[in-house]
Amino acid sequence: MWYKTAIFYELYPRAFMDSNADGVGDFKGLLSKIDHLVDLGVDCVWITPFYPSPLRDDGYDISDYFSVHPDLGTLEDLKAVIDRLHEYGIKVVADLVMNHTSDQHPWFIESRSSRDNPKRDWYVWSDSDQKYRGTRVIFIDTHDSNWTYDETTGQYYWHRFYDHQPDLNFDNPEVRAVMFEIMDFWLQLGLDGFRADAVPYLFEREGTNSENLKETHDFLKAIRAHIDKNWPGKILLAEANQWPKDTRAYFGDDDEFHMGFHFPVMPRLYMALKQKSRRSIVEIMEMTPEIPPGAQWCVFLRNHDELTLEMVTLEEREYMWEQYAPERRMRLNLGIRRRLAPLMDNDRSRIELLNAELFTLPGSPIIYYGDEIGMGDNIWLFDRNGVRTPMQWDDSPNAGFSAAAKTYEPVIDDEVFGYKKVNVQAQKADPDSLLNTLKHMIRVRKQYKAFGLGTFAFCLPDNDAVLAYMRAYENERLFCVFNLSDSEETAVFEMSEFVGKTPVNVLTGASLPVIQQANYSLTLAPYAYYWLRI
Ligand code: GLC
Repeated sequence: MWYKTAIFYELYPRAFMDSNADGVGDFKGLLSKIDHLVDLGVDCVWITPFYPSPLRDDGYDISDYFSVHPDLGTLEDLKAVIDRLHEYGIKVVADLVMNHTSDQHPWFIESRSSRDNPKRDWYVWSDSDQKYRGTRVIFIDTHDSNWTYDETTGQYYWHRFYDHQPDLNFDNPEVRAVMFEIMDFWLQLGLDGFRADAVPYLFEREGTNSENLKETHDFLKAIRAHIDKNWPGKILLAEANQWPKDTRAYFGDDDEFHMGFHFPVMPRLYMALKQKSRRSIVEIMEMTPEIPPGAQWCVFLRNHDELTLEMVTLEEREYMWEQYAPERRMRLNLGIRRRLAPLMDNDRSRIELLNAELFTLPGSPIIYYGDEIGMGDNIWLFDRNGVRTPMQWDDSPNAGFSAAAKTYEPVIDDEVFGYKKVNVQAQKADPDSLLNTLKHMIRVRKQYKAFGLGTFAFCLPDNDAVLAYMRAYENERLFCVFNLSDSEETAVFEMSEFVGKTPVNVLTGASLPVIQQANYSLTLAPYAYYWLRI
């Protein structure tokens, strides 16, 4: 169960490194930068879609499941990346996009060509756009229906995302069968598993919201059974943007997903800082059910999408928008298209604090490429592209990412976040840089099994601005304390169990005063955080 103690890294291959000066990152470039991943200490890399695609949803619109996009290189180039990462003991997972294809996929081109085409039933067609009315629209900024009319055959086709991403029909056994072929193809090549995209939406049924249906779970269980039987040790990570109890269902009884993203805790980590109160974090963690012994959450601060506000209340969403996306342009669909560092006003103490929470909450943390150096964003780019700009390696032209005259999207070069200031090379050389601080956190986290395998329990002082919890595993006790406020805060903890013990800050090695009585008092500087071994 390597995934339970692993540090994950989300890598967007177009942004990482360009080896052939065409302005787009590629596998050969990535191969040349693997030392960065090794140095950071990550255990598993999730590479976002690299399949042939018209790139109208940045590769989540696949037109061939059995090949790689020519911009990125060849299958052999990808294989070389996987092999090299494996040499360093780093696993590799990729996206498995099952719900939909590109409308340029030959399957859909056939399907839409006539009503009696053998591929017709591979997609969801209807005479009426009034079917499945209980199903929400996800990309609300661009769509007001999940149906699009197709002139050629006079019917509507179903899509949960862009209208150029028709949903596959999972009621069709051929569609289900092809998914197994796709998985086998990539696992054979050496991948260690999949981040399964948009899994709640595979089936649709009248009278439901067409999410999390029993039919969907049954199919996903079949996929897991296939992995267990043929590919033991490989994993499935669910992208199910749902409330904790609904995501819980994707773990089954250790017979569905190994991992699932914890979506709802993410916005609350941000909210708690503005509210100077742990309340929303405590609430959501208390709503989070136990998961089976083989399962693990995946926790994150940011990813390649907008910071989603689907799993908050209406008031909380308004609050988050007001606080973190004051300009309309910063908002997208039900979220915020900004990166971590700009969201924190580039304030180092808050960026560290959020990471210190990320690395100690239950689950395996995943770092979004570029956030390890505090990269900025560009809200003026189309869709979510502003958080997918070239990786900033050094202060040379194009941030050392590419020798081309023009890159696929412009490199960030503003005063605060521009590559001249924010880059890997400079941060490597500075022992106090964000990069080195995170590296250190990762190294320390790896010394304690409690973070990946331990139990989680809140230890809440009266002071609401202080978040604290105990991670425990065998004889390890790690007491994690965070000051969510911009002022100094004092908190008194109930520590009768530990009287006589001396807490040691595992990040600095410093000892704190011995715990002399049941009430243990700590004074925390603004945004201070402690990981204390007791
Ligand atoms: C997932 C991806 C997102 C994509 C969508 C449709 O939510 O994270 O980037 O647009 O699926 O495939």
